[in-house]
Amino acid sequence: MIKPILKVLSGEQLETPPVWFMRQAGRHLPEYKKLRTQAKDFIDFCFQPEMAAEATLQPIRRYKMDAAILFADILLIPIGLGRKVTFVPGTGPVLDPLKVTDVEKLELEGAADRISNVFETVKRVSQELDDQTTLIGFCGGPWTVATYMIEGKGSSGKEVAKRFAMQNPKEMEMLLNKLADASADYLIGQAKAGAEVLKIFESWAEGLSPAMFETCVTKPTVRMIERVRSAGIKQPIIGFPRGAGLNMLSFAQQVDVTGLAIGTDTSLTMARDMLGDQLPLQGNLDPLALRIGGSVLKRAVQKVLDDARGPHIFNLGHGVAPDVKIKNVEAVLAHIRTGKGDYV
Ligand code: CP3
Repeated sequence: MIKPILKVLSGEQLETPPVWFMRQAGRHLPEYKKLRTQAKDFIDFCFQPEMAAEATLQPIRRYKMDAAILFADILLIPIGLGRKVTFVPGTGPVLDPLKVTDVEKLELEGAADRISNVFETVKRVSQELDDQTTLIGFCGGPWTVATYMIEGKGSSGKEVAKRFAMQNPKEMEMLLNKLADASADYLIGQAKAGAEVLKIFESWAEGLSPAMFETCVTKPTVRMIERVRSAGIKQPIIGFPRGAGLNMLSFAQQVDVTGLAIGTDTSLTMARDMLGDQLPLQGNLDPLALRIGGSVLKRAVQKVLDDARGPHIFNLGHGVAPDVKIKNVEAVLAHIRTGKGDYV
């Protein structure tokens, strides 16, 4: 029997769309918070296959989501390339800001091997899943990971990274190519370990000129996927150029993705009109509606269901926030699966 998410990614439209949520494993779950206290820090958590596999499976047990997403982070790749990354509670990721002269020193050789504990997590989870639940592996998009490496932290405008790209195009190209190659090897390792779908999180695709989008997002992503495919990996790939706006069109035309994840800021109806009724789409419930709950959430869920047309995987437009109520996640799933949810 083919798993529902794989059916959708092969172009089938299902009456009841399969559903999973970005950041479904995380701080809105008490069992996650409990498990988290056993790790020294977040990175230690990601590199311990037993704990990471458990965190991956928690939302499957609680909600019967249609997909399990590997518990890891997009910022493990810089570690593989030899950079220092820490997660500071309350602040988020902190990295040594990458200088122009650091780019050639990044250790591409063996980068994926240095973070290969993650493959063991994939292997363990894949042994636990039933014949309905799909295991999704992932990496960050080269541009998004580059912004964290250059800025040294999350930032709103990405000005430091954009200046780096505009003033040092050669070094930026080398950085993006190294990220594309290391990430491809990382996806290949995940696919060989049992990941059935691969997703590329380009979370900071917003606010780029079309020319910069082309050089910093499209080109390195094409390179990454070519490397994955030339290794013989056949798994479907979901692209998520979050906030790309109209650049989404050139992304969809040039990047050989199987499906596209749509962020909150893009209308599913417009995405369908632009990209066609055949392309599998994923998304795009507003995460704020999930936090608010009640009739606001009910209406928002129904609108996504009504707008989706064609092959569709229900998801959020971005991640689950820590203050989301478990009852509301359950209500969304019941609404999608039975037509009726008890929203609170
Ligand atoms: O449930 C899942 O989605 C699976 C695992 C997953 C995590 N991060 C776990 C995580 C995935 C797929 C990611 C991707 C990720 N990481 C992205 C792309 C998706 C997006 O949200 O745009 C980005 C930009 C990151 C980088 C990152 N990781 C930041 C900025 C932060 C700090 C902010 C925050 O939300 O805490 C993280 C930490 C992180 N990654 C946590 C989790 C569960 C929280 C860490 C903790 O428990 O303390």
